[in-house]
Amino acid sequence: MKVNGTPYRTIWPGADMASVEIIDQTRLPHSFAIARLASLEDMAEAIRSMRVRGAPLIGAAAAYGMWLAARKDPSDRGLREAGAALVATRPTAVNLRWAVERMGAWLRPLAEADRAEAARGRAAQVCEEDVAINRGIAAAGLPLIRSAASGRPAGRPVNILTHCNAGWLAAVDLGTATAPIYAAHDAGIAVHVWVDETRPRNQGASLTAWELLHHGVPHTVIADNAGGHLMQHGQVDLVIVGTDRTTAAGDVCNKIGTYLKALAARDNAVPFYAAVPSPSIDWRVRDGLREIEIENRSTSEVTHVSGRLWGGGVASVAVTPEGSPAANPAFDVTPARLVSGLITERGIAQATEEGLRRLFPEGGR
Ligand code: MRU
Repeated sequence: MKVNGTPYRTIWPGADMASVEIIDQTRLPHSFAIARLASLEDMAEAIRSMRVRGAPLIGAAAAYGMWLAARKDPSDRGLREAGAALVATRPTAVNLRWAVERMGAWLRPLAEADRAEAARGRAAQVCEEDVAINRGIAAAGLPLIRSAASGRPAGRPVNILTHCNAGWLAAVDLGTATAPIYAAHDAGIAVHVWVDETRPRNQGASLTAWELLHHGVPHTVIADNAGGHLMQHGQVDLVIVGTDRTTAAGDVCNKIGTYLKALAARDNAVPFYAAVPSPSIDWRVRDGLREIEIENRSTSEVTHVSGRLWGGGVASVAVTPEGSPAANPAFDVTPARLVSGLITERGIAQATEEGLRRLFPEGGR
């Protein structure tokens, strides 16, 4: 996607062919900064601190992390330890483990001397595949928006609510939940996006709003608590969210607060879709509530918010009394029964094991 007219992806190999460059997402929306990562440790820190974030992007970042690691120590043990260090950075998004396991399976059969060079090519392949997957999600999801648009008075946009950032910043390019939205907008369909701010880290307010603004997609940032009210008043036609992990049975684990949107959507007969790239499907897990590890992040993300001061400069300020305890579960699970469908790169699946296996017969074998 373009930033001020220049096309960018979220991650790419550095020109020195010894490092990786990323858009530092902790600096958005107030400044657009590129960070250079030269080692496995740099990459692990970037994932942990959420300079790179979003399930597909942390998968791609892990693949490049394996490249940086293989440059230093291409032995079996070196790759195993690098993989373990990367997987330990964030527990919930399954793409991280998926990318590390794939890189290991590709590299292990090779001679040690060939591994680093091969790892760079394979990491690039993971990125290209992500972009192709997201194009597939765009094609699969576009008809949903087109049909919501048909028959409505000219100029009345399709109102889509999204949560967190499942946009191009969360992937290598295009995004997952946003891919059909960008496709609809580019096809001339009038869309308007309700952007949940997504406390505590505000990925909606700071990242989704930023990327929609840059692409010229009409949108409105709302407090997380506003979605139910808007649905009750007929102002949401469709909900599309991303996922960090979707179980073989169709339970959708995503940013904390997604479940409440699904409940409100069901109560108001608003279709609720998750955009699910196949690397986010965990075929080993069926019961999302019991089997997915939910990341608990620092409580300072709840007790403090960061933003730009009126006079300029970015600062973090406390919003709770000193001494009040806080808790910060970062994801929740929306049971499959509340999900209208899963938008995958191969089409829309029913949120059931049969529905997913119909599109992915090879899954989990
Ligand atoms: O904690 P984050 O910002 O990495 O969480 C991101 C989300 O929850 C996204 O909705 C999800 O990863 C899907 S991204 C295409």
